[in-house]
Amino acid sequence: MPMTPRPRRVLLLGGTSEIGRAILSSLDAPPDTEVILAGRDERRMAELGGALPFRVRTVHYDGTALESHQPFVDAVFAGGPVDLVISAAGILTPQEVLDRDPLQAGLLMETNLTGQVTTLLAVTRHLRAQRSGVIVVLSSVAAVRPRKANFVYGAAKAGLDAFARGLADSLHGSGVRLLLVRPGFVIGRMTAGLPPAPAATTTAAVGAAVAAALATSAPVVWVPRGLGVLSTAMRLVPRPLWRRLSR
Ligand SMILES: NC(=O)c1ccc[n+]([C@@H]2O[C@H](COP(=O)([O-])OP(=O)(O)OC[C@H]3O[C@@H](n4cnc5c(N)ncnc54)[C@H](OP(=O)(O)O)[C@@H]3O)[C@@H](O)[C@H]2O)c1
Repeated sequence: MPMTPRPRRVLLLGGTSEIGRAILSSLDAPPDTEVILAGRDERRMAELGGALPFRVRTVHYDGTALESHQPFVDAVFAGGPVDLVISAAGILTPQEVLDRDPLQAGLLMETNLTGQVTTLLAVTRHLRAQRSGVIVVLSSVAAVRPRKANFVYGAAKAGLDAFARGLADSLHGSGVRLLLVRPGFVIGRMTAGLPPAPAATTTAAVGAAVAAALATSAPVVWVPRGLGVLSTAMRLVPRPLWRRLSR
């Protein structure tokens, strides 16, 4: 099911996200579109929002404040229907930090998985009632197979990916669509200081690929596109070899 070609009201969860902003910049939407940047740093969101060609407002949102998610979402939808929700909040904490401090691993799971589940289920109730709207979920190639170098992040993304696929199926026929995005290594703030992985891509490429996919009925978009084929091969690598290959 193609989305409303030109969204009029858009919610970005993770309002400072580089990928989220790249998606917004690639959208085919009129300048009077209202974009709601939702995040922790309202000053930074206001600054970044000024560069977007839309009417931007900012709201406080903390992905780990689980009890706040239902009232937060209710308040957003009280302002009118929402056509597009982009779920881009996430953290990538180095595995060696998580090995030393399991509470940091819990925070990562809460931010990248649990908080998205509570927020998106609240969003879904409103979109079902509207009988329209699109949810964009940022999964990752890390969801395909755990790597010893970032297996907690991979576990969170695998959980999020499974949640999103199940949610998408449950929405079939409801008028609401979910687009699952699986980027590979994206050069940017989140990966700063890490050596680029093979087939590394850019935030602009992710933004353009998502905007293009929104105009189709695709359920999943890989960025770069060839990563979909590579992911099949990744699943087939024997485990002893995978252990050695995956840094
Ligand atoms: N970059 C990559 O290589 C890559 C690859 C595949 C998938 N992804 C996924 O794509 C999504 C966007 O990543 P990105 O590259 O745009 O990274 P980014 O620029 O670092 O954006 C991450 C966003 O998450 C927000 N965030 C973190 N913890 C939060 C919390 N507790 N509550 C609310 N917001 C929170 C950050 O807000 P603050 O400004 O407040 O920290 C920021 O807006 C993430 O889910 C990421 O896992 C990224």
